[in-house]
Amino acid sequence: MEIKLQHASPLAHKTPCLVLTALEGKPSTPLLKDLDVRLDGIVARAFKDGEFTGRLGETLLIHSGSRLAQERILLLGLGKEKGFGAERLRQAAGQLVGFLQGRRLGTCAIDLTSLPLRRMTLEAATQAIAEGLQLAGYRFDRHRTENGRELPPLLERATLLVSSKGDLRAATPGLKVARCIDRGVTLARDLVNEPGNVKSPDYLARQARALSEEVPLHCTVLDRAQLEVEGMGALLGVAQGSIREPRLIVLEHRGGNGDARPIVLIGKGVVFDAGGISLKPAEKMDEMKMDMAGGAAVMGTLLSAALLKLPINLIGIIPAVENLPSGSAIRPGDILTSLSGRTIEVLNTDAEGRLILADALTYARRFEPRVVIDLATLTGACIIALGHHASAILGNHNGLIRKLIQAGERSGERLWQLPLWEDYGHQIKSEVADIKNTGGRPAGTITAAAFLQKFAAEFTWAHLDIAGTAWEEKGRPCQPKGGTGVGVRLLLAYLMQGGFPGEAD
Ligand code: BES
Ligand code: MN
Ligand code: ZN
Repeated sequence: MEIKLQHASPLAHKTPCLVLTALEGKPSTPLLKDLDVRLDGIVARAFKDGEFTGRLGETLLIHSGSRLAQERILLLGLGKEKGFGAERLRQAAGQLVGFLQGRRLGTCAIDLTSLPLRRMTLEAATQAIAEGLQLAGYRFDRHRTENGRELPPLLERATLLVSSKGDLRAATPGLKVARCIDRGVTLARDLVNEPGNVKSPDYLARQARALSEEVPLHCTVLDRAQLEVEGMGALLGVAQGSIREPRLIVLEHRGGNGDARPIVLIGKGVVFDAGGISLKPAEKMDEMKMDMAGGAAVMGTLLSAALLKLPINLIGIIPAVENLPSGSAIRPGDILTSLSGRTIEVLNTDAEGRLILADALTYARRFEPRVVIDLATLTGACIIALGHHASAILGNHNGLIRKLIQAGERSGERLWQLPLWEDYGHQIKSEVADIKNTGGRPAGTITAAAFLQKFAAEFTWAHLDIAGTAWEEKGRPCQPKGGTGVGVRLLLAYLMQGGFPGEAD
C-alpha cells in the first residue's frame, strides 16, 4: 500500500473517495458544515436520523454525482471524545480499509485537517492512521495461485491530507516511522503464516541472513555442530526428534555507542510444535506452525530498529528448532544438561519452549546485556488466563515491567502482569535433576516463567507469553486472520521511548 502526505484543502482535492472523520455525536466540524451546505443538508440529516452517529469504525458512503470534486464522500466514525487516542485512530483506519476493500475501492484520500487533536500531536496521529491502514491491508496470499477473481483487491493508495506546509513537515516523521514499523510487522506475520514445510530452522536462519544483506544488521548463525561445541544440551534435546537441524540465530543492530551494553531480545523459534513424544491432539495442531512467533517478532523488531536507525545497541537471539515425535526424540523422564550446567528433568516433551529459551538465556550472558526481554508462545495456560486480548508479562524488575506495560498501552499491544512469587518455584523442583520442565496444571504460565527465571537470575529480565495474541483465528480490523506480528510494535514503542534500567539519567 502506498501512503503519502499532501498539503491540500480537502473539499478541493480530487479523489474517487474522500474520507472525513467525526467524533460520536459531534457533527459540527467546520469541514462537515461546509460539506453539508454543498450537499443541501444531507450530512446534518444523516446525523439527525441516526443513520450516522460517529461510532468507532462506523461508515456512511455518500455518492456526490457532479456536485463535488470527489466522486464519493465517506464519513468515518472515531467514537466518543472521551478515550480518543492513537489506538482509536488505528482501529478506525483498520475498519476503513475493510470497508473500502469490500467495495473494491483502491484509492482514497483521508482528511487529517479536522481530526480532534487536542491531546495528541499530528505526527502521532499520522503514525497511528498509517499503522492502522497497513495493519489492515495485509494479506498472506503468496501460496495462492488462483487469486484473481475471488479475493477482493487490496487498498492500493491512500493520500493523507493536511492543511499547511508546516503540518506537512510535522506529519512526515510519523509516516516514515509507520513505514519502518510496518516492514517489521509484515516480516513477522509472513514468517508466522509460512507453513511448517517451508520454514525449517535453516529457513529462518536464511531469512535472517538475507536481512543482514539488506540493512545494517550483523547476523551470526550457529549450526548443530557449533551448538554441540557450546554445550546447548537443552536446545539440542528438543531438536533431536526432527531430521531438520536446529539453528541459533543472532542478529545485531549496533546503533549506540560502541561500549554501551546492549538490550537483548530472545524469541522462541519452534517452527512446528507437535509436542514430541508427549504428542498434542490432532485438532488445530496445524496452528502450531505459529510457535516461532516470538522469534518472528524479534526478527521484525531488529529489521525495524535498523530501518529506524535507533540509537541503541540491540541484539536478537532466536533458538530455532522443530519439536516432533520420532525414534530419535527425547522421552518423558530424560535428563538434559543445559548450557548453564543445570540439569533438567523433561517430564513432558511438549514443554519444549522453556528448554530452548533456557539455553538462549545462558548464551545471552556473553553480551553483558543491560536488559533481557524474551517473547514466547509458551503456554496454553496463558490463553486460559487472559484469552486473546493481552499477553502476559512476568519478570524480576518492576521498573522494566512498568515501562513495557506502558509501551503496551501506547502501541495497543497490551500486557497484563502475573506474579512470580518464590512460592511457585516449588512446583518445578525435581527429585532426580536440578529442575523439572513442568509444574503441573496450576498456574502453568507462572511456573513456565519461574523455570526461565532460574536462567535469567543475573539479568534485568522480563518474559512475555504471547500464546494468546500471536495468532488471530477470526480476523479483526487491524488483524487479518493468521499471524498477528504481535510484539514488534510493542517492543519498538518500548525501545523508541529510551530511558532503560541501569542507564545514567
Ligand atoms: N507452544 C505450546 C503453547 C501454546 C499452546 C501456544 C497453544 C499457543 C497456543 C507449548 O510448547 C506447549 O505445548 N506448552 C504446554 C506446556 C505443558 C506441557 C506444561 C501447554 O501449554 O500445554
Ligand atoms: Mn509444546
Ligand atoms: Zn511450543
